[in-house]
Amino acid sequence: MSENADLIWVPKASAIAREAGARLREFFAQGVETEYKGDVDLVTVADRTVEKLIKGRLAEAFPEHGVYGEEGTRERMSGEFRWYVDPLDGTTNFAHGFPQFCVSMGLEQRSPASGNELDGTLVAAVIYDPMRDELYTAERGHGATLNGKPIHVSRIPDLAESLVATGFPSRKRHDSPNVHFYHEFTLRSHGVRRAGSAALDLAFVASGRLEAFWEFNLNPWDTAAGVLLVQEAGGHVSDFAGGAFQLDSKEILASNGLIHDELTGLFKQMFAGQDLAPIPTPKEFEERRAQRESAAD
Ligand code: IPD
Ligand code: CA
Ligand code: CA
Repeated sequence: MSENADLIWVPKASAIAREAGARLREFFAQGVETEYKGDVDLVTVADRTVEKLIKGRLAEAFPEHGVYGEEGTRERMSGEFRWYVDPLDGTTNFAHGFPQFCVSMGLEQRSPASGNELDGTLVAAVIYDPMRDELYTAERGHGATLNGKPIHVSRIPDLAESLVATGFPSRKRHDSPNVHFYHEFTLRSHGVRRAGSAALDLAFVASGRLEAFWEFNLNPWDTAAGVLLVQEAGGHVSDFAGGAFQLDSKEILASNGLIHDELTGLFKQMFAGQDLAPIPTPKEFEERRAQRESAAD
């Protein structure tokens, strides 16, 4: 837990995230059955139970605050403060016994009187990784911490020396162009990780383990906490064109800041179809292999 006595929301939110993470660890150890919300969009009893737990604990700790959770919670939606809650980010990993998932809770301060859905400011963030016992926290203006120690984004100055991450949607999979971006980034960096938890990907950018992360079509419960962590750790978050990130942006590009212009330049170039490295089709690859084998005979 943070030792900073000035923090308003993080101490109580951290205790809630730790309790939620402990429940996830129990479910993970015992194994849970998986249901389908759609296509390959999975949900388990752990997602629902932990969202209910967090909803109850937030109501006790912050009775005026709204809660907007992935598994359907919509409480006190007209208030000044709203928590975006993903009780289990990385459900597919969790369901397969792959130990990369977390609890994510981000707090937005809004001006309900304006009626504008988009004018909120992210003010607090808590992400808890129960398998590593790592708690990431931030409050606006107070920096970001990992297990109580300040964290900072990395100082790598170019994409060629970077390790980056992305994710792929579990809905409307056929509509996603992201494999092209995956390929291009793979060729231009030290590598692209697809570890399966967007919130942890963002926490890893904040803590300097990754230089950047991008994804199409995420939801506010995936991004709210991680975005503030990256910003408070000295990084930058935008849409793919470098414009302001908003919780309903449906595109997110987070980085250590130093490589951000290079990344937005690459996105621009790719959307314009310029300088894309061709990918050999499996058939072309097979034909070349057959030629090599016949030449060797
Ligand atoms: C998913 C994870 C994943 C990302 C997906 C998300 P969920 O969240 O964050 O990394 O690629 O787009 O939906 O469904 O496990 O909470
Ligand atoms: Ca999620
Ligand atoms: Ca989830």
